[in-house]
Amino acid sequence: MVNSSGGDQPKSPVKWAGGKGQLLSQFEPLFPKQRFNLYIEPFVGGGAVFFHLLPAAAIIIDNNWELINFYITVKDQLPALLADLEKHVNEKEYYYHMRALDPDKMDPVCRASRFLYLNKTGYNGLWRVNKKGKHNVPFGRYKNPKILDRENLPLVSRVLQHCQIIPGDFSQALGFAREGAFVYLDPPYHPLSPTANFTSYTADSFGVEDQQRLAQVFKKLDQKGCRVMLSNSDTPFTRRLYTGYDLQVVYARRAINCRGGKRGPVPELVIRNYL
Ligand SMILES: C[S@@+](CC[C@H](N)C(=O)[O-])C[C@H]1O[C@@H](n2cnc3c(N)ncnc32)[C@H](O)[C@@H]1O
Repeated sequence: MVNSSGGDQPKSPVKWAGGKGQLLSQFEPLFPKQRFNLYIEPFVGGGAVFFHLLPAAAIIIDNNWELINFYITVKDQLPALLADLEKHVNEKEYYYHMRALDPDKMDPVCRASRFLYLNKTGYNGLWRVNKKGKHNVPFGRYKNPKILDRENLPLVSRVLQHCQIIPGDFSQALGFAREGAFVYLDPPYHPLSPTANFTSYTADSFGVEDQQRLAQVFKKLDQKGCRVMLSNSDTPFTRRLYTGYDLQVVYARRAINCRGGKRGPVPELVIRNYL
């Protein structure tokens, strides 16, 4: 497949929990060897795989509206966003002022600008909300965070011109899926233990029923003739859900989703309907 970068390679514009940047070299031999005519990523997050593959035609989906509004703004209103990003300062008081603003009352550009500012200056770059949907990440105390990246954001905007950006549930992928498409699914992981449930990307959590619903969507995408690749934790439950498909183990260094709080290589599953 021809990629759409036409020059410098863009990188993910946000830090994202569960980001797949560190796994790309292990993924490389697992991506489809055949060309694909459409790329669909229904849990796009920071889009490490999307920005690596740079597909010429793509659909990205996520149910985090702040993230989706950010991508739409980078695609359609880049100059206004770059101008607004100039106003931010990396100071504690200003951070908490921005954090307290109600994004629903902001126009899309200011909202996207606030999103990127909080992502770059908040602790660990996480986007985390409480049960009421309020952003609750503390100030990160970084020395010199790159809030306004004048080189990368235009590259990101260029790649997004070939991309439909869809808010909402992953199951919408079925409406776009067609023979010859490649679908990469990277859901919130099934927890390794009952206490290790990192599920705060949005106010809604992703439970056992969602994992089962996702396995059904995987099967339907398979039946439609798509090549489908999915990441998840390596547990008896996830292995059972995808019995009959190709299962590969990759190793991730995870600060979250890890056994007993220990860091170190954690096995994860890559499930595929092709070899
Ligand atoms: C593991 S992260 C994806 C990380 C991404 N692969 C990366 O490299 O940054 C999971 C993503 O799924 C999104 N999500 C959670 N539930 C969803 C749902 N029901 N439908 C669509 N997206 C969902 C979250 O907002 C989050 O961005």
